[in-house]
Amino acid sequence: MTLSLHDVTVRFGAVTAVDAVSLEVPTGEVLALLGASGSGKSTLLRAIAGLEPCTGEIRWDGASVTRVPPHRRGFALMFQDGQLFPHLDVAGNVGYALRVTGRREEGRVAELLDLVGLAGFERRRVTELSGGEQQRVALARSLAADPRLLLLDEPLSSLDRALRERLAGELRDILTAAGTTAILVTHDPDEATVIADRVVHLDRGRLLDP
Ligand SMILES: Nc1ncnc2c1ncn2[C@@H]1O[C@H](COP(=O)(O)OP(=O)(O)O)[C@@H](O)[C@H]1O
Ligand SMILES: [Mg+2]
Repeated sequence: MTLSLHDVTVRFGAVTAVDAVSLEVPTGEVLALLGASGSGKSTLLRAIAGLEPCTGEIRWDGASVTRVPPHRRGFALMFQDGQLFPHLDVAGNVGYALRVTGRREEGRVAELLDLVGLAGFERRRVTELSGGEQQRVALARSLAADPRLLLLDEPLSSLDRALRERLAGELRDILTAAGTTAILVTHDPDEATVIADRVVHLDRGRLLDP
């Protein structure tokens, strides 16, 4: 169960945002994609998710998914701002992801909330949660669909520094407990080191030699 990228390239007109990236991510690995703003991190993540057309090839377990639509890839993408549904409570937000993927809801919401350290938060309104709590709800929602690959685009960067440092350690533990293969995009080397098993560097769309 390996994700492999072969010469993945994304162009926007004259701009080559992702330039011939080749990479393998084995099952269970948490990989950090580290790079400055504008280095192509989000674009590469979106290409893996299927949201950005690319050339080259993306394979899962040896089979090409390059032309498979996003919802059929079995990957989950979580953004900097978790984009929760403000009119639903915490259980409603997490349960939504279970319902749309046809999974049992009974007991599972509580399990997921427990995993992200929010046991008992079911009936809380998401608008009344702190930024860190909201991101943990978003993470629980992303994990609800049992994604075979979790793609995290700067999930902590909207939080203040102290909270970011604490949540980085927690995120590491949550991903380990969930056993999910994940790619974390960040511009923060410390965050990459704390959370990931392996760090690769992206510079102007190109992967630097390790
Ligand atoms: N939809 C788009 N149209 C045109 N250019 C884009 C688009 N998305 C990103 N880019 C450009 O691609 C490059 C990489 O952007 P991005 O992947 O967002 O970088 P990062 O996430 O590392 O900050 C930048 O030069 C950016 O301006
Ligand atoms: Mg980005």
